[in-house]
Amino acid sequence: MNFEEEIHADERLVAPEPTGRDRGGADNSLRPRLLAEYIGQEHLRKSLDVFIRAAKARGEALDHVLFHGYPGLGKTTLSYIIANEMQAGIKVTSGPVIERQGDLAAILTSLQEGDVLFIDEIHRLNHAIEEILYPAMEDFQLDLIIGQGPGARSVKMDLPRFTLVGATTRTGLLTPPLRDRFGIILRLELYEPEELVRIVQRSAVILGMNVDAGGALELGRRSRGTPRIANRLLRRVRDFAEVGRHQSVTAEVADEALNLLNVDRFGLDDMDRRIMLAIIDKFQGGPIGLETLATVVCEEKNTLEDVYEPFLIQSGFLTRTPRGRMATMNAYEHFGRSLPRGAMRQPTLFDGGD
Ligand code: ADE
Repeated sequence: MNFEEEIHADERLVAPEPTGRDRGGADNSLRPRLLAEYIGQEHLRKSLDVFIRAAKARGEALDHVLFHGYPGLGKTTLSYIIANEMQAGIKVTSGPVIERQGDLAAILTSLQEGDVLFIDEIHRLNHAIEEILYPAMEDFQLDLIIGQGPGARSVKMDLPRFTLVGATTRTGLLTPPLRDRFGIILRLELYEPEELVRIVQRSAVILGMNVDAGGALELGRRSRGTPRIANRLLRRVRDFAEVGRHQSVTAEVADEALNLLNVDRFGLDDMDRRIMLAIIDKFQGGPIGLETLATVVCEEKNTLEDVYEPFLIQSGFLTRTPRGRMATMNAYEHFGRSLPRGAMRQPTLFDGGD
């Protein structure tokens, strides 16, 4: 097999670029395409705008960008926005699907000058593959050893200047050498309810729905700080409104639909309730270690940490202490449970780690 064949781009590795009709898919049609359409993450948006303008004025590719933040906050959307703003192409892949060095080499050699390469879950790249990225990011060089033993040969190739956009839930999951090669590191925060209201209103227009201010507020408040959830709930509320022949999504219509979906007035869903009630009812409010909690609610530790806990903590229902997770007084009140006698023990300096 020659080098070209060995690194032939495998279609499984790269998601198709959403163009034309493809953009009509579940999430794509609602994605903003330009920074000016993007709602929320004000600080990040302003910084990115400056870096993009400066790179364009210099006629250069944008420096490599690392986005970190919880799932559903817009990391993928922003990578498409970068490509659009830079008038560049984009290739989309993710850490776990790149299994061999040749897989990454195939993707890198298929890039054009200025293209964006988006690697989702970049912390899940294996170490040997990550090493291919270092010279690619720094010197736009592909450095590969092909074959094994005495027949092994080294292949060096120039790559076009491209922009790597990496996404991860936490920068701490990246190895320092990889993290240090990103010139721009930006963190996405949970969205404020008012921002989600504006996102719902924008999406409603695109979907041709009639959502009044009260309906948008109800959806914005109950979307766990996450645009992806806001848009998913909006689509389900649309089903409810259409079947019930409601002309417009009012606060009452949204409330009924969200109750049917088991999304409570704070936006908590079934899993949030299972987590909080396990801590309150089975462990007297905690502290309970992450491992135990994951076993009790039958969920992955990472999913608890990245998907459920941030919102429960932000909403004031859960705290993380050195000895584990604890329910707050707000949680007892919200779930209609009476506080244990002597109220909750506060964590002390003598509590150990999780
Ligand atoms: N749809 C999903 N996320 C969005 C955002 N941040 N701004 C506008 N529309 C969105």
